[in-house]
Amino acid sequence: MSDLFEGFETFGGLSREAILSWLRERDPERLAELWHAADIVRRRAVGDAVHLRGLVEISNHCARRCAYCGLNAGNTGLPRYRMADDEILACAHRAAAMGFGTVVLQSGEDLGFTRERIAGLVRRIAAETGLAITLSLGERSAADLRAWRAAGADRYLLRFETSDAALFAAIHPPTPRGGEDRKALLRILRDLGYEVGSGVMVGVPGQGVASVADDIVLFRDLDLDMIGVGPFIPHPDTPLGDPLARSRLDVGDQIAADAETACKVVALARLVRPDANVPATTALAAADKVRGRTLGLSRGANVLMPNLTPATYRRDYDIYPDKAWAGETADAFAEGVVEMLAALGRKAGTGPGGRTRNG
Ligand code: 5AD
Repeated sequence: MSDLFEGFETFGGLSREAILSWLRERDPERLAELWHAADIVRRRAVGDAVHLRGLVEISNHCARRCAYCGLNAGNTGLPRYRMADDEILACAHRAAAMGFGTVVLQSGEDLGFTRERIAGLVRRIAAETGLAITLSLGERSAADLRAWRAAGADRYLLRFETSDAALFAAIHPPTPRGGEDRKALLRILRDLGYEVGSGVMVGVPGQGVASVADDIVLFRDLDLDMIGVGPFIPHPDTPLGDPLARSRLDVGDQIAADAETACKVVALARLVRPDANVPATTALAAADKVRGRTLGLSRGANVLMPNLTPATYRRDYDIYPDKAWAGETADAFAEGVVEMLAALGRKAGTGPGGRTRNG
């Protein structure tokens, strides 16, 4: 075993200072070491399988006004949709037919999808397909989350977006019921027995490099089962769509919103949580249309989330520009994915692909 390889063994204990200096690193040769370390740790901890999760964007209604997101309630120009139960079920069957182990139901924060309706959907999907079920429906009540878990949901995704409390507050206007504490919700999810996913955007105006180092330390401390990271992509119809507004918010040690910087965070996430499931995200694919996915997969990621949302709705799930492109049709994806994985020396995962803890 080379010295370099031994060094990787200690990456899980990477200090905040080491994380910071990797985030600041610009030398391509040094960065190649980071990519290599993340790739080796990924292989040793979770193997070469790339788990495929079929993503169904079930509603773009949203009660929130997040400053970065195209679905925010203030974006009155966006046509809103809510898929019918049978349409959602058909997508889940499609995921199963394509050999995926998991279906992910995602939406804006849409109380039109009541506790009972989601619980019913989860029960039907579980009974009819046997797929693992991941929910990503925003901040919902503990009672909702409990009911969905009891109905058979396995996993929940809720990014904390940034660990910088002031920045979080600045980009998430409170609701009438007050701002929720996402970290508290993540604990509730864990206590309910969900596999818990969280993560951040990289490059939000006002987000400093030091705060992203804190985010990565938090990935470790929260013992996350899944960690999703993507670059911030400005959406014109949001408060952060205006370049002038953005430049006013930028801080002295502002972190960049590009694919390479997001890859650093993916790699560091892998190093601090070797056995987590880490997707090569759609935002990464949108930021680097040619190489985003393969870069993510070769720098620590082990999950892809092909988009199964019906074409009629997809363009309106407009979180950020170019997202629809990155979520090409399921058929195109299915054709391309096997080849892409083979070129990387990887293979599609089988089974639900949950977290397998190995210490
Ligand atoms: N750019 C990049 N990612 C975004 N998200 C929302 N808006 C944007 C944007 N403009 C991410 C958030 C959210 C996830 C579903 O999409 O991190 O949690």
